[in-house]
Amino acid sequence: MKNQITRKEFLKLSGAAAGAGIIASTGIGSLARAQSSDLLHRTIHATGEKIPAVGLGTAQTFGDLSQDFMMRRNTIETLFKEGGTVIDTAPTYSDAEKVVGRALDELGARDKCFLATKTSISGKQAGVDQNTGSFRDLKTDKFDLLQVHNHRDTEAHLDTINGLKADGKVRYVGLTHSRNRLNDAAVDIIEAGKIEFIQCQYNMFDRSVEERLLPAARDNGVSVMINVPFGRGRVFQATAGKEIPEWAADFGVDTWGKFFLKYTLGHPDVTVIIPGTIHTHHVVDNIGALRGRLPTMAERAKMVAFVEDL
Ligand SMILES: NC(=O)c1ccc[n+]([C@@H]2O[C@H](COP(=O)([O-])OP(=O)(O)OC[C@H]3O[C@@H](n4cnc5c(N)ncnc54)[C@H](OP(=O)(O)O)[C@@H]3O)[C@@H](O)[C@H]2O)c1
Repeated sequence: MKNQITRKEFLKLSGAAAGAGIIASTGIGSLARAQSSDLLHRTIHATGEKIPAVGLGTAQTFGDLSQDFMMRRNTIETLFKEGGTVIDTAPTYSDAEKVVGRALDELGARDKCFLATKTSISGKQAGVDQNTGSFRDLKTDKFDLLQVHNHRDTEAHLDTINGLKADGKVRYVGLTHSRNRLNDAAVDIIEAGKIEFIQCQYNMFDRSVEERLLPAARDNGVSVMINVPFGRGRVFQATAGKEIPEWAADFGVDTWGKFFLKYTLGHPDVTVIIPGTIHTHHVVDNIGALRGRLPTMAERAKMVAFVEDL
């Protein structure tokens, strides 16, 4: 057994290497694949396809091409090494599509990636033109998921996205928002059977989608992608300097990142969460939320009470 490492040793090695952005290109790959089978996957209702239930968002600071590209490439490489596949981006996230496209190309990783982007402009033809730019910048001829961004010209863009799907250039049709006031409008579109994915905000501080949206998604076979799981980083300000409660270790929580992600994953109607980060050690932490058991409903209630009391 001299040349073999234990799972515990691998996890330590993987985390340390990823944190430094220096994962070796040999050996680790096969171990990472073995490791990915340990990760929580959730099923896309429309097809039965399974995806790892945490991915990577690119909205806030990911898309500045004038900044360190290699740092962002390492972040994406770490996502795959850790067993994640889902990346969410948009043509309006600065240069994020260009950064993601170049990284996937250089890593030869397009096939490993469940790639989601958006139509984010008013006007049907403007949307078509924007999609053309997204295919070019992301260096791909197919999106796994194309979403209407923030209910902007929804009907016109859904028509275009369905056309792309019929042509084999899009796999799933979606709609996004991150503001409570659009929850009811999203429910209407879910109930009308027009989408396969809904993207919305859900975290311990904003649980409004629990009321109507998540049940509607479940009842209508719509998969759910959760954005802003950390309140754009505000949850970490709220917990800064505070100890994680000891009882959270019972369900594998050793960081605040896992505390918040495991809460959201604990809702059975959540398909995938896309926390935003440019840091490899945060990717390792976030994917780590997919290991071990999830909190029960009683434990989730205790988590909310704990956070509200801070
Ligand atoms: N309407 C829409 O379609 C819509 C709206 C909003 C967001 N989104 C999507 O959802 C994604 C997520 O939202 P978001 O990026 O705005 O906010 P978020 O995921 O709630 O929070 C991101 C912040 O959390 C920090 N972070 C990430 N992982 C961490 C960890 N394990 N420990 C400590 N800090 C951590 C990041 O800092 P570091 O970079 O330093 O790690 C960043 O400051 C976006 O990137 C985007 O893809 C879509």
